[in-house]
Amino acid sequence: MKKLKKISKVISTSLALSLVLAACSDKEEGSSNSGGGDKDEKVKIVYARGKDDTQGTTAMVEAFEKKYPNIDVEFKEMPADTGKQHDAYVTAFNANSDEIDVIDLDVIWPAEFAQAGFLMPLDRFIEKDGVDVGAYNEGAISAAKFKGKQWALPKFIDAGMLFYRTDLVPEGEVPKTWDELLAKAKETKGQGGTQFGYLMQAKQYEGLVCNAVEFIASYGGEIIDENGEVKVDSPEAIKGISKLVEIVNSDVVPQNITTFAEPESHTAFINGQAGLIRNWPYQYALANDESQSKIAGKVAAAPLPAGDAGSAATLGGWMAGINKNTKHPEEAWKFLSFMAGEEGQKIDAIKGGHAPTILSLYEDEEILKANPYYKDEGFVKALEAAVSRPVAPNYPEISDIIQVQVSQAIAKKITPEEAAKNMQKEISEKLEK
Ligand code: GLC
Repeated sequence: MKKLKKISKVISTSLALSLVLAACSDKEEGSSNSGGGDKDEKVKIVYARGKDDTQGTTAMVEAFEKKYPNIDVEFKEMPADTGKQHDAYVTAFNANSDEIDVIDLDVIWPAEFAQAGFLMPLDRFIEKDGVDVGAYNEGAISAAKFKGKQWALPKFIDAGMLFYRTDLVPEGEVPKTWDELLAKAKETKGQGGTQFGYLMQAKQYEGLVCNAVEFIASYGGEIIDENGEVKVDSPEAIKGISKLVEIVNSDVVPQNITTFAEPESHTAFINGQAGLIRNWPYQYALANDESQSKIAGKVAAAPLPAGDAGSAATLGGWMAGINKNTKHPEEAWKFLSFMAGEEGQKIDAIKGGHAPTILSLYEDEEILKANPYYKDEGFVKALEAAVSRPVAPNYPEISDIIQVQVSQAIAKKITPEEAAKNMQKEISEKLEK
């Protein structure tokens, strides 16, 4: 598993950087590039994204439409499951569809989508508008680069975190290891109206890969190393998989935890059904959203528990790109650069809890007020420990292997040792191609 560059270093050393995003600073009206037509004609662009349970996306779209009254953004809601969302885009783009103009991409897609020729390179827009890519988190910006071109701009960064109920888990008792987590989850289960002790994502899908990577890395294992060598058949990785299997099979998680992706786990958490959850940063804003959460004001964040080797978080996040067949490239870019720029990211951080990729925003008082834990050592540590998933144009195939093997280990159809051996063999075969 390729370790990401230490993000916290970038954050702390670059906080002072000022951001120049000329693209978004003026009140402008959209102009159609589609040839012909009245100059004042309204242009409609379609923006596709997975279901956003926070208020972030709606607020961003509203602010954009207010600023650019000649551009209408139609929101096309895609499946929340990143794998299903991926497949829907692949089908549409393979058919050269121009129905969608702007899409959000998971950090694991750019290599594949760029290689397949689905996206429009953004370099000429970036240059024209003088977008300062140096203002962005380096790992996030480079995840959107492939073969020297910038295919997308990062909107927010994700890292797995532990969120907990402050009425059930006092500050000094926040679990620091997986064993402490099991103990605390057992102790708090049933307290304060809860039915469960701990929530995570154990369904057979991409989120399981993220959870597995965290367990494996927290015991010092990795799936693929920095040189692209498959290293998953190791005692460390096996320890990580074993701990994951133990927790998923324990009585602190819901019995049907293998049907839980992010929406199931965050819904149970905001309904007050558990004291502890592993999730991405948006969980904080959602849990504090009084219109939908029963635990608003009672939530805090901490790094994920540690194994033998420390705490580790999987690196996730989303970026925005443009369909190469769009009929409205200029308007698509205006919207994309608004969302991925300072203005859009600020709205999304405040309303959606999504962690910015523009470093100077970590100094923004309003963002810090909405997400006080961005200042915590714990959050910085989670970003610091963020581990990226294998980078490959055929990543979905590699992910499938991990999903299947880890699920079989969870179901006790195979042992963690066998899962590690099978992954080693099957991933190596995929990478050789
Ligand atoms: C989050 C992450 C993304 C990851 C997904 C898995 O959306 O940002 O990178 O693939 O969760 O469910």
